[in-house]
Amino acid sequence: FTAAATAMALSMTATAGFAACDDGEIVIKFSHVTNTDKHPKGIAASLLQERVNEEMNGKVCMEVFPNSTLYNDDQVLEAMLQGDVQMAAPSLSKFEQFTKVFRIFDLPFMFNNMEAVDAFQTSEAGQKMKESMTRRGLLGLGFWHNGMKQMSANKPLVTPADAAGLKFRVQNSDVLKAQMAAMGASPQPMAFSEVYGALQTGVVDGQENTWSNIYGQKFFEVQDGTTETNHGVLDYMLVTSTDWWDSLPDDIRTQLATIVDEVTQTRNAAVGEVDASARQAILDAGATIIELTPEQRTAWVEAMKPVWAEFESDVGADNIAAAQEFNA
Ligand code: LMR
Repeated sequence: FTAAATAMALSMTATAGFAACDDGEIVIKFSHVTNTDKHPKGIAASLLQERVNEEMNGKVCMEVFPNSTLYNDDQVLEAMLQGDVQMAAPSLSKFEQFTKVFRIFDLPFMFNNMEAVDAFQTSEAGQKMKESMTRRGLLGLGFWHNGMKQMSANKPLVTPADAAGLKFRVQNSDVLKAQMAAMGASPQPMAFSEVYGALQTGVVDGQENTWSNIYGQKFFEVQDGTTETNHGVLDYMLVTSTDWWDSLPDDIRTQLATIVDEVTQTRNAAVGEVDASARQAILDAGATIIELTPEQRTAWVEAMKPVWAEFESDVGADNIAAAQEFNA
């Protein structure tokens, strides 16, 4: 190959990848780690892309990179600060380097259900959290829902004692590590894209995630049942860089913010359906879901809830009290 041929091949690749963007358009690269069409985040990102590219055509062009094809969650926020990507929606567990206030969402049994999560996030205390990282260069544009987390392992989990001694993949969060330790299990932080292989080869025994992630990544195929614990929440922050956001012309920023808000509301309102169909698809695939009696569930609460005390000063006793009010 001559240098010219290589340059031409590269530019053709680039053209193919960015075919939708015209010269002069502001390009928004949105990187995420899930699938695009059966997942709350994937669907929301696709809808955002569709609306931005339709309604802001000629001015703004959004390119979505799903399935960890561009970055893992442990890389994407640094890439954003470097200006290599403009939007992402990592789970709230992934922001530990930037703020500790999101730890409230990782605390086990803090929220009874997604209605309580939604009410807290849309409250004044929740909305303030979108600006908790501006000093570090990141701005939250909106909370995006996924759902409640379930537990699975290579053996059936009925009581928390069943989890003792097992290795569980966790997102890289101190709260989640403490939660697993509270059950006598060992936490193993790992990127989302590596979990299926780690479960399959026995590098870890179990994992916790939402129905849409367990279905989307096929974790159920390599686990001996999933226990419906609903013990925690996995939600996202749609995030951008403050530098990039502030650099936008006012009219563009305003229009983009409106589309973001509308997509956020529409998709957050529909998240229960996506969650339920993922759960059903797991059953349809012939996998086992273990439902707990209220007494059995209480044992999980008693095992995990002591973790709260360790993190109360990070998240604020007032925030915990506010969150608990929405459970009523
Ligand atoms: C995980 O790492 O398990 C999740 O944060 C992945 C995701 O984006 O839902």
